[in-house]
Amino acid sequence: MAQTFETVGVVGLGTMGAGIAEVFARSGRRVIGVEADDAALERGRGHLERSTGKAVAKGKLTEDAQREILGRVTLTTSREDLADADLVIEAIPEIMEFKRGLFADLDRICKPSAVLATNTSSLSVTAIAAGTSRPGQVIGMHFFNPAPVMKLVEVVHTVVTDDGLADDVAALARSLGKTPITAGDRAGFVVNRLLLGYLNHACALLESGVAGRDDIDAAMKLGVGLPMGPFTLLDLIGLDTSYEVCEVLFRETRDRRHAPAPVLRELVTAGLLGRKTGRGFYSYGEAAPAAPK
Ligand code: 3HC
Repeated sequence: MAQTFETVGVVGLGTMGAGIAEVFARSGRRVIGVEADDAALERGRGHLERSTGKAVAKGKLTEDAQREILGRVTLTTSREDLADADLVIEAIPEIMEFKRGLFADLDRICKPSAVLATNTSSLSVTAIAAGTSRPGQVIGMHFFNPAPVMKLVEVVHTVVTDDGLADDVAALARSLGKTPITAGDRAGFVVNRLLLGYLNHACALLESGVAGRDDIDAAMKLGVGLPMGPFTLLDLIGLDTSYEVCEVLFRETRDRRHAPAPVLRELVTAGLLGRKTGRGFYSYGEAAPAAPK
């Protein structure tokens, strides 16, 4: 019988992790959200409250239902609280050393039957799995931003993933209202392998002076029917994440389409990471106008 994963841990409550926690809590599951310190935990709580609050304001969720969803989420700074989780999903920054350290901890803390999943955008699931004593129970479960809205989950299996686990995780994704696809463990899987080359190419086009930011965005939105132009989407994904994914893809494929565009590096170095910092290619809220147009 397929595993149902009643108690789910989410480690890292940034944009993606908080969205993933919301998705699981909305499905009726108990969620344990873990962050490194109290400040990060409060930011995660803020994400959850704002996101479900928006749904209440739009009349898509009652206040009671919001309370129930939030009541299913326990927030903690202690990884040890994941001991009873059936599934833990990691959504921490894309740095292999951090991920390996976390998975070593999860391997020690979580019960032997627990499945350990990574929401990595581009890093090797196999390398993460190999650092644990249960590589057969480690899998990629890759959500898309904003996680409560985007319907796709990439289920990433490795050569050592236990038979049947990818099917169980795909069934889990369906129970969350998502559509799963399965992919092998190759950098960027399917979506990022195709998407980041395009987004990076848009940065190169901007730098070459062929057209400005607003015109390139309008071109792809109105001429191709995409919901967002490339710079709006880069700001949504986060320029740091986009840069890191490009770097990994370039390293793995040596395909120059993925060599991060200088403007991306410049904005990341300046700390202008997109929506999450209030400024990236565009400015959000009160901040000064973003460069470059
Ligand atoms: N959290 C929760 N819900 C959100 C949200 C968020 N951050 N942003 C938007 N929504 C909800 C809105 O509340 C609204 O819900 P409703 O239909 O129930 O009222 C719905 O989404 C539509 O939102 P809006 O009307 O405000 O705006 P849009 O119609 O413009 O849609 C969008 C916003 C869904 C973000 C749309 O522009 C879109 O699909 N953009 C492309 C996003 C995309 O490509 N994401 C993938 C990025 S790649 C990635 O994540 C991989 C990673 O590894 C890098």
